[in-house]
Amino acid sequence: MKNSRIVGVGHYVPERVVTNQDLEKLMDTSNEWIIERTGIRERRFFDYKKDTCSNMATRATKMALERAGVDAMEIDLIVFATITPDYLFPGSGVLMQRELGLDKKTIPAIDIRNACSGFIYALSIADQFIKTGMYKTVAVVGSEIQSSAMEFSDRQRHVSVIFGDGAGAVILQATGEEGKGILSTHMHADGTFAEELYVKDPGSSRKNEERLTPEMLKGESIRAHMNGNLVFKHAIVRFIEVIMEALNTNGKTKDDIDLLIPHQANLRISNFVQQKLGLSDDRIYNNIQRYGNTTAATIPIALSEAWEEGKLKENDLVCLAAFGSGFTWASALINW
Ligand code: ACO
Repeated sequence: MKNSRIVGVGHYVPERVVTNQDLEKLMDTSNEWIIERTGIRERRFFDYKKDTCSNMATRATKMALERAGVDAMEIDLIVFATITPDYLFPGSGVLMQRELGLDKKTIPAIDIRNACSGFIYALSIADQFIKTGMYKTVAVVGSEIQSSAMEFSDRQRHVSVIFGDGAGAVILQATGEEGKGILSTHMHADGTFAEELYVKDPGSSRKNEERLTPEMLKGESIRAHMNGNLVFKHAIVRFIEVIMEALNTNGKTKDDIDLLIPHQANLRISNFVQQKLGLSDDRIYNNIQRYGNTTAATIPIALSEAWEEGKLKENDLVCLAAFGSGFTWASALINW
């Protein structure tokens, strides 16, 4: 059985920087509140004239391919994580396939919509396909355009200050080297809490004429509903659980972690996890300060930036962990 190894990382973030001060002009919020409660200082918003969910992912993937020295034609499968796809259907995976010129090769594209856990879910799926020998090279991407779904108003301020846009990608390849690459992945879900962090409308399960109404467009049901406190409380418990699960499965301890990349939902969540695991500042990677929460894109963007900064070295033990809507949560342990 082959292991899978990340051989290239890449990311793309839109050029437009939106600061907390910019948001102060749109709603009753303050730079101080946002920094104190979330750690976020700025985020990127897409340019509707040139950025799409799929083309941002394509740009990130091209960067990852170039860094890996792998030709796009070698890709056997795309696993695309997003909750903000270009269209309601088909998913963005096929659009990226076309943009990469892989429509000629008719490779499959799988779409994953597990919100903040989406990238690790996608990575886990790609890993299984490589382990079984079905595919050798897989592009795993996370891409999100959250800003066009936000309402910049007082009633939505607890949600709209948090999110940002961006994309990240990794190229996963089979390796014969024992103990290298992805050591394990763990995924969990608890649908009890599905409605604590969700967008209700326009949902499918109602009368045809009630699927999308003029009232909905004025209300909050087409926006993200988030029970922030509850999500926070569950997140800090599940993060620790799923990280320890990854370590225990592989006979490792928290002292063995060289770099933890947690999903970037709130700097206070990351700080709590860091403290609980006793990790020094150089053993955890955070970039929420610059990008906010980019949902499925946060982990691959962070991986790409950590790599650029020389923080991912051969044989480092790297742990990825995420928690989000569903609730879903997941981890991956990697011998880089
Ligand atoms: N600016 C100023 N004040 C605000 C803002 C804002 N943007 N937002 C909320 N407030 C106010 C509230 O109205 C409240 O005021 P009150 O005390 O007068 O009622 C006060 O600040 C505190 O509100 P809380 O909601 O209790 O604030 P909290 O400290 O919990 O922070 C936050 C809110 C940032 C949303 C936090 O709960 C959080 O990060 N939760 C977890 C989010 C998360 O992990 N999401 C998962 C990933 S997302 C996904 O899967 C799609």
